[in-house]
Amino acid sequence: MLIRIPRPWQIPDRIATPESVYYKRRQILALAAFPSILPALTRNPEFMLDRPLTEEWAATSYNNYYEFSTNKQQIKDLAKSFKPRPWTLEITGLCAKPKIWSIEEIEKQMPIEERLYRHRCVEAWAMAVPWLGFPLSELLKRAEPNSKAKFVRFISVNRPDEMPGIRYSGNYPWPYYEALRLNEAMNPLAFLVTGIYGKPLPNQNGAPIRLATPWKYGFKSTKAIVKIEFVENQPNTFWNTAVPKEYGFYANVNPKLPHARWSQAVEQLIPNMERVATQPYNGYAKWVAHMYNGSEI
Ligand code: MTE
Repeated sequence: MLIRIPRPWQIPDRIATPESVYYKRRQILALAAFPSILPALTRNPEFMLDRPLTEEWAATSYNNYYEFSTNKQQIKDLAKSFKPRPWTLEITGLCAKPKIWSIEEIEKQMPIEERLYRHRCVEAWAMAVPWLGFPLSELLKRAEPNSKAKFVRFISVNRPDEMPGIRYSGNYPWPYYEALRLNEAMNPLAFLVTGIYGKPLPNQNGAPIRLATPWKYGFKSTKAIVKIEFVENQPNTFWNTAVPKEYGFYANVNPKLPHARWSQAVEQLIPNMERVATQPYNGYAKWVAHMYNGSEI
């Protein structure tokens, strides 16, 4: 009897939908759900994947979002009553043109495109996600950061009434806050996300606007951002403040640098937990390695 053993690079037939069909279907969905961004909706062919896309149900029902819960599978339900609109995003700090943007202005004025990014959590699970959004640099450069600006801070919304995790885990230094060095924030890979799978971003994934920095562990990708600030000195960050021994500032994906309690050499793909070797910078060295000298943690 001939038993067909799939090679590691073969993906299941059900996943191998021809790309043109896949994207046409996505665009039709987007037309129904996301009319404001449709005219600009295009996939950027520069960002290819070495794995199938994570199925939508999995990427939107297994989340990290401590403001709601530490239980990944409960976040989707707990976030149902969160209101992502109206929403403003303030760009402030060391710049010539600070501005408070409405989410509608952002969607209208920014060059929205689709990018397929790998997404690697520090906990060693990983996904492959079609984000809709635009390069963070597009928004930052309009603010004209001045020569003192060396870092960029990101601050999440703080709504204890709508976010039970803030009420019940009072020991964390809310609101969630993160930061990048200015050149990291200006790197073309740093992406502000307003949608996923051709639709507006669901609450559990960080609606209405979140960051994606795919060469770093997922905790750098701040959700539900209300404020971005240019600052001079390296800022504190949420996880580095809460558990300094386990989470550094740079948090670049590095299979050779174990977390304090587990190895980072392998990741597990949601939802089947298939084990895959982790790549330096999560496979994005070509875009980002030049920014580092190897000592950043
Ligand atoms: N942003 C906020 N505001 N709160 C959080 O708890 N968790 C981070 C990041 N952004 C988090 C956050 C972590 S640890 C990860 S891995 C990603 O969001 C998870 O994103 P996802 O749920 O869309 O996969």
